Amino acid sequence: MKGIVLAGGLGSRLNPLTKVTNKHLLPVYDKPMIYYPIQTLVNAGIQDILVVTGGKNAGEFLRLLGNGKDFGLQHVNYTYQEGEGGIAEALGLAEFFADGEPICVILGDNIIETNICRAADDFRRQRKGAKIILKQVTDAVRFGVAEIKGDRIAGIEEKPKIPKSDLAVIGIYFYDATVFEKIHRLKPSGRGELEITDVNNFYIEEGTLTYDKLEGWWTDAGTFESLLQANSLVAKTGANKMTGSAVQALSATRVE
Ligand code: G1P
Repeated sequence: MKGIVLAGGLGSRLNPLTKVTNKHLLPVYDKPMIYYPIQTLVNAGIQDILVVTGGKNAGEFLRLLGNGKDFGLQHVNYTYQEGEGGIAEALGLAEFFADGEPICVILGDNIIETNICRAADDFRRQRKGAKIILKQVTDAVRFGVAEIKGDRIAGIEEKPKIPKSDLAVIGIYFYDATVFEKIHRLKPSGRGELEITDVNNFYIEEGTLTYDKLEGWWTDAGTFESLLQANSLVAKTGANKMTGSAVQALSATRVE
């Protein structure tokens, strides 16, 4: 499975912090923000990683990450998203890199306390379709929100005024190779972006979307409030922890 970190966009919600630098290079406690999603992929046994950059400071990603030595990687791939066409548009740029393999996509401002080893392992076995990860939140109106019926997701609504549940769709997604054909079918949403929620709803229509629930905290860091929250959560408890079962799942993956 290949990994894709989406770190494009202009970070306008964090202006003026993002006036002279890219959002994903801002500090979250003791590391640049993008270190956390890269570590999340590496902890799940994903080593072939593409970083989708954007904005005025894309060159700084190369200066910061190089070939990924800080993460024990041999090489990092890069590409560039022009403007703010949305998450799904950024992912569309990864078609050539993915080259028919399953992918794990993570938003460059999503930080988790634990790891995604169980979900990654389950998706390696699932092979077809997609998998998303849910987390119970108190402010569901800010996110994609899942409606659950029985053991399946019936639908996902992007930033609903009246959420059908308190389960947010976090910014970590697993897709098979059909994701790119789905992205080609998308139309821009009300906010002028190609929405990842629409991609996930295509998989629901097909009946191939599964989900996992995340253990430990999850936060994004794209607004002043959530950036502050991310800093204090990482400072208090640390991020990207590996539990005993996760280490086991990971070593099983390496043996395969
Ligand atoms: C995006 C997605 C949303 C998801 C969130 C997770 O929102 O559109 O479905 O719940 O990331 O961070 P955005 O950051 O674009 O507001």
